[in-house]
Amino acid sequence: MSALSLRAAPANALLRPGLDLNGPWHQIVDPYDTGFYDYRLQPYDAAAQPQGGFFLDQRPRAETDLIEYSFDASPTLAVPGDWNSQDGRLLYYEGTVWYRRLFDYTPSGPNSRLFLSFGAANYEADVYLNGHKLGRHVGGFTPFAFEATSLLKPSGNSLVVRVNNRRLREGVPTIMTDWWNYGGLTREVRLVEVPATFIAEWAVHLASGARDRIAVRVRLEGAQPVQKITVSIPELSLTAESTTGSDGVAALELAAPGLALWSPDHPKLYTVNVAAGNDRLTDEIGFRTIVVRGSDILLNGQPVFLRGICLHEENPLRGGRAYSPADASQLLGWARELNCNFLRLAHYPHNEHMARLADKLGLLLWEEIPVYWAITWDNPDTLANARAQLAELIGRDQNRASVIIWSVANETPVSEARTRFLRRLIDDARALDGTRLVSAAMEVRADPADADHKIVDDPLGEFTDLQSFNEYIGWYDGLPEKIARIHWTIARDKPVIVSEFGADAVQGMHAGVNTRFSEEFQEQVYRLTLPMLDKIPQFRGCTPWILCDFRSPRRVLPKIQDGWNRKGLIGENGRKKKAFDVLKAYYAHFLHASEAAGPPAKNQR
Ligand code: GCU
Repeated sequence: MSALSLRAAPANALLRPGLDLNGPWHQIVDPYDTGFYDYRLQPYDAAAQPQGGFFLDQRPRAETDLIEYSFDASPTLAVPGDWNSQDGRLLYYEGTVWYRRLFDYTPSGPNSRLFLSFGAANYEADVYLNGHKLGRHVGGFTPFAFEATSLLKPSGNSLVVRVNNRRLREGVPTIMTDWWNYGGLTREVRLVEVPATFIAEWAVHLASGARDRIAVRVRLEGAQPVQKITVSIPELSLTAESTTGSDGVAALELAAPGLALWSPDHPKLYTVNVAAGNDRLTDEIGFRTIVVRGSDILLNGQPVFLRGICLHEENPLRGGRAYSPADASQLLGWARELNCNFLRLAHYPHNEHMARLADKLGLLLWEEIPVYWAITWDNPDTLANARAQLAELIGRDQNRASVIIWSVANETPVSEARTRFLRRLIDDARALDGTRLVSAAMEVRADPADADHKIVDDPLGEFTDLQSFNEYIGWYDGLPEKIARIHWTIARDKPVIVSEFGADAVQGMHAGVNTRFSEEFQEQVYRLTLPMLDKIPQFRGCTPWILCDFRSPRRVLPKIQDGWNRKGLIGENGRKKKAFDVLKAYYAHFLHASEAAGPPAKNQR
C-alpha cells in the first residue's frame, strides 16, 4: 500500500452497511449531450448557478415552465447492467445515457459519512446528487465512490449519473478493441454509511518469506487518523493491536502457527476482522505464496502448472456484460468443467464477484487493465488514466488469494515510448502490492529467414516475472499443419505462459480440418498446439483464447460471425465445441499426475 493508492473512499463498499440502489433507473438516451452542454458547447455543470442540464432533474412547476425532458416519464434500464443488451435499439449505441434514481435514507449515526459507490460505469461517469456535482470517474471497469454526506436529504434524493461510453483515441482502452463496448452502470450501486473516520484500505497477506506470519496494513481516512486498530482471526484465536500514525496508517504482524495455506486443492479461507475506532470490516481471506524461481512458478513453494483459459466479462447466454454472482458461477463452472485451475480475466478488470468466487472455488486468476493494442504512449493523461485503473484494481482485489498475476497490457507494439509507459505500470504494481507476479501479454516475433521459427524477446520481458505471449499459429499465421513444425527461441529463462492461442469455429458446423470456422479446424489447432508448446522447456501454463464466443463489432462475416468472435470453446448457445474436450483431456493429465505422485515435474505424464 503506497502513496499511489490514496483512495479517499471506504474500503469494501460491497461489504458495508448502507442502501442498495440497484434495480430500475429512469434513463434518457442523449446522443447530442443536450443535457450536458448548452448550444455554445459550454457544460451546464461548469456554471456557478447552473441554468440547465438534466442533472437538475427539474419538473415544470407552472404551465408556463419549459422543461424539455422528464426522467419520471422516461423508460427505465436495469442497474447493474449494460444498456446494449437491454434494448435492441441500443445494441450499437455509443454516447451518453442519463440515469436517475430517487431514494430516501436516514443515516443511523449522527456523525456518519455517506458515500455513493459504484462497482463500475463504462466509460466516463459524471455523478450528481440533488442537482450538485459530486465528481467524474474515467475508466469503465474499476470501482469508485464520491462523498454525499453534506448533500443528502432524509427523503426525495435525486441521484443522476451521466454515463458516456464513447471511445477516445487517448483513452484506456483506445478506439479499437475486439470486444463489445458495453455502456452503462454495469455493476452495483450502493450508498454506504461509515463513521467519521473509516478504513479506506487494508491489505492482509503472508509476511514476506513466511508461511506462518501474517502482515496487515491499514489506512484510515477522516478527522481522527490516529486510532487503535485491532485485527483478529477467530478461528486461529489470533488478535493483534496497533495504533495508526498521523497519516492514518498502521502495520502489524501476527504469528499464525497452524495456518492452513490456500491452494486450488484446498481453498481455505479465514474470517478476518479489523476494527479501527468506530469502523469494522470483516472479510474471507486466504493465505498463500506465489513466486517465480528460474522458469518455475511456485505456489506455496510447490511448482505449479497453470491450466488456464481466457475469459471476457460477458454472459454469452444473455449476450451482455456479466455482473452477478450467478454469472460468475456460470462462467467459472464451465472453466472447472474444463479441468482448469487458472483463468485470465481479459482484457480489463472483471467484477468483484469473479475473484470472490475464485477464492472459494480454488481458481487462480490473472487480472489485467485495458492497455490494449495501440495506446497513445506519449500522452501523460493516458498514462495517468492507466495508472489510476491499475491502482483501483489492486486496491479492490489485493486481499483475494485467487489473484496471482497483475497484467499491465495486451499485444502492444514494441517501441521505447511503449516500454517506458508499461515499465511505469509494472513499477506501480510492485509498489502497490509486492506479493504477486506482474506480467503482460506480449507478442511473438517472426524470423524473416525461417517461417517456422518464432522468437520471444520483447524488451518488456526483462521487467516482467513471466514471459507471456499470444500466438495464433494455424489461424492468423498459416494453417494447422504448420503448427507441428514450429520451433522457438525464448530470450529469457523465466516461466512461459502462453496467454492466447486458438481459432474460430461455429458451434455445430462440421467439415474438414482445413475448413475455416469448422469445429474440426479449431479442434486440430488445439490437438497440434498443446504438444508443440510442451516442447518449450520453460512452458508453465496457458490460457487459450477463449472459454466462450463473445460479441465483437469487428466480426462482421454474415451467418458465421454476425458480430461474434467465434474462438470460444463454448458457443453463444452454451453448447461445447469439439476442442473443449481436447483441452479438457490435456488438463486431465496434470490432475491424474498430481493425484498419482503429488505435484508433477512439468512433463511427468
Ligand atoms: C488478439 C486479442 C484478442 C482478440 C483475439 C482474436 O490476440 O488479444 O482480444 O480477440 O486476438 O483475434 O480473436
